[in-house]
Amino acid sequence: MTASRDIACRVRGFGAYTPVDVLTNFDLEKFVETTDEWITTRTGIKQRHRLAEGQNASDAATEAARLALADAGMEPGEITHVINATCTPDYLCPNTACLVEAKLGIMGAMAFDFNAACSGYVYGLSMARAIVAAQPDARVLLTATEALTRRLNWADRTTCVLFGDGAGASVITADGEGALLEDVLCASDGNLGGLLTIGGGTHTPYAKGDPVGEDFFVQMNGRDVFKHAVRNMAAISQDVLARNGLTTDDVALLIPHQANLRIIEAVGDRLGVPAERVFVNLHEFGNTSAASVPLAIADARAKGVLRPGMRVLLATFGGGFTWGAALLHF
Ligand code: ACO
Repeated sequence: MTASRDIACRVRGFGAYTPVDVLTNFDLEKFVETTDEWITTRTGIKQRHRLAEGQNASDAATEAARLALADAGMEPGEITHVINATCTPDYLCPNTACLVEAKLGIMGAMAFDFNAACSGYVYGLSMARAIVAAQPDARVLLTATEALTRRLNWADRTTCVLFGDGAGASVITADGEGALLEDVLCASDGNLGGLLTIGGGTHTPYAKGDPVGEDFFVQMNGRDVFKHAVRNMAAISQDVLARNGLTTDDVALLIPHQANLRIIEAVGDRLGVPAERVFVNLHEFGNTSAASVPLAIADARAKGVLRPGMRVLLATFGGGFTWGAALLHF
């Protein structure tokens, strides 16, 4: 249990961005051996958004950040830290947070990326809380952005139908108005990392001119990921509730990682949260990895599903494996 739990931590602004280009299941039918019926019944996904040529994860993050800053009533120059979650950065170096910082016209803030795959935003809340605990005047911009469609093997129907691009952002401070971060809990199991991989790192020593192999793209053992996702998202949600003396009866809305409707339903069942208290928008966006939870928060607010006074439980799971849960009181 960390000391930073005792420090007030406010999530003051939320923003989300998805690219204009939409790829429906029917669009996919034209070049992937699949059907709208298969994708809909197995995953719940109907469409996903795709970054335009020349548009990158940093651009999506910058758009989301602008909206989050406006929502918080803050200027970019007030930000002291930019922390960015992604597993599909623009480059291995420079980091995407520095690119976002430059695009926002911020100078001198501490800026770095971290990779917790789909758990990135919840991991980011944990880091932001630690930063404001150590430095109470910190103004942390947390972005979570993905360009997953750039790392899909369109010849692999078991993965390419699942993912989309997008970004979400929040501003976190120790003071001010905003959702209270009541608690956040993160976990991992590196022994299972091989079940969900995206290449492009230095593990494969490519020489100039070499064609990329299948390892360059998203590769996943879907069935195993499914089982671990359900088990761990439910367990860590129960843990974060229990250590705060709460049950799911105290939660107005569950916002889970938007990977697969069947995973979401199974997590809701295990936690005993009825479907009307579980937010789902994956039919519109597919799995946007780190961006999925902040995108869902912004969407739930915009749709009036998430309202002031509500306690929200966030639950997530991703490659690594990583997983986490957080309690936000709006
Ligand atoms: N279109 C048509 N048929 C397909 C497709 C497709 N897109 N993909 C697979 N199939 C076929 C398979 O080839 C297989 O055919 P076969 O029986 O002739 O061999 C059949 O459908 C069943 O395949 P399964 O893999 O068993 O299908 P399953 O019901 O397990 O669903 C899925 C696959 C959707 C990937 C599921 O396992 C899943 O959602 N897993 C979790 C994935 C996930 O959420 N990952 C992300 C979490 S972590 C993160 O976000 C990074």
